[in-house]
Amino acid sequence: MTTTLITNIGELVTNDSEADDLLGLVEDAALVVDGTTIAWAGRAADAPAADVQVDAGGRAVIPGFVDSHSHLVFAGDRAAEFAARMAGESYAAGGIRTTVAATRAATDEQLTSHVARLVGEMRRQGTTTVEIKSGYGLSVHDEARSLAVARQFTPETTFLGAHVVPSGTTPEEYVALVTGPMLEACAPHARWIDAFCETGAFDADQSRAVLSAGAAVGLRGRLHANQLGPGPGVRLACELDLLAVDHCTHLTDADVAALAGSGTIATLLAGVEFSTRQPYPDARRLLDAGVRVALASDCNPGSCFTSSLPFCIALAVREMGMTPAEALYAATAGGAAALDRDDVGRLTPDHRADLVLLDAPSYLHLAYRPGVPLVTRTWVDGRPI
Ligand code: NIG
Ligand code: FE
Repeated sequence: MTTTLITNIGELVTNDSEADDLLGLVEDAALVVDGTTIAWAGRAADAPAADVQVDAGGRAVIPGFVDSHSHLVFAGDRAAEFAARMAGESYAAGGIRTTVAATRAATDEQLTSHVARLVGEMRRQGTTTVEIKSGYGLSVHDEARSLAVARQFTPETTFLGAHVVPSGTTPEEYVALVTGPMLEACAPHARWIDAFCETGAFDADQSRAVLSAGAAVGLRGRLHANQLGPGPGVRLACELDLLAVDHCTHLTDADVAALAGSGTIATLLAGVEFSTRQPYPDARRLLDAGVRVALASDCNPGSCFTSSLPFCIALAVREMGMTPAEALYAATAGGAAALDRDDVGRLTPDHRADLVLLDAPSYLHLAYRPGVPLVTRTWVDGRPI
């Protein structure tokens, strides 16, 4: 295996869990990549020799972003819906059905090339691991092919047949389909199962039925909850000991206490509140209560069409009370935890060499310079892309 020394790193974010500070910062640092993994990280003055040397020019290196929540398999465009919202309309989950019609009409090739384009867009912005959900097919055939498409890009695929009840069927019939033939067709392509537990989508009993059916065939659960208003989803996620519950915008004190007393990670999706003009989730309240937090994009055509975790970090710092360090950690190690991945999200030995060179002296610039394309180079599995 070829070894590469990346040296003259002005500031290295390792997320080393043994470090005294959250980010495991090292100044005047270097990294050695051996094939696909990190072999060494530390002060440049102490670095071992390697076959190839890369000069980081005094700039910052961070772990690649781990985006633990996206809906990239879709067709069509809802820009007009966004414009109407900015003119005063409110967001409604029913818009999902517009995308379902377009997705069903698209060929596998069209869906695949669209996901490829979005994954490329994410990589150029520093995302090196992405979770992708189904949820715009809502038929046995269209959910299974959505997951087969997603599987070409990531092992982190999530079956979200329980996104909304499609037109022409009753909720009872549809839950029976999702937990029966649809699950059977989708399970081979998925690692996770999810449901949208919200007024207008699925209630707690229906969500519980979907997650239990998934668990019975080996799929691990996650949940969309408390996005549009208060509800039972967050407490259900804690009760079922799910690894992650996502959105968490409208939380009662009981919800926060349940999260704090559980192993469930709250995944906050700041781009959604930006794009739906809703109040942001209170990350500070969660962190101060001891809740583990991840940040993800939720990239989808309706509630939030951004693929940029730097943008979400800037929002989380400006609008949600996170420090820049907490926000970066949540978008890297936090996302990895929310996917139960111990091989990504940190730049310490034996982790995957998924890293990002910023055109900035410090990670602080991710929030300090919002909207600026600071990601200059991304390595995935030790290879520059
Ligand atoms: O995570 N909340 C449910 N689903 C997506 C939005 C889907 C859409 O509007 O198309 C979300 O925000
Ligand atoms: Fe989502």
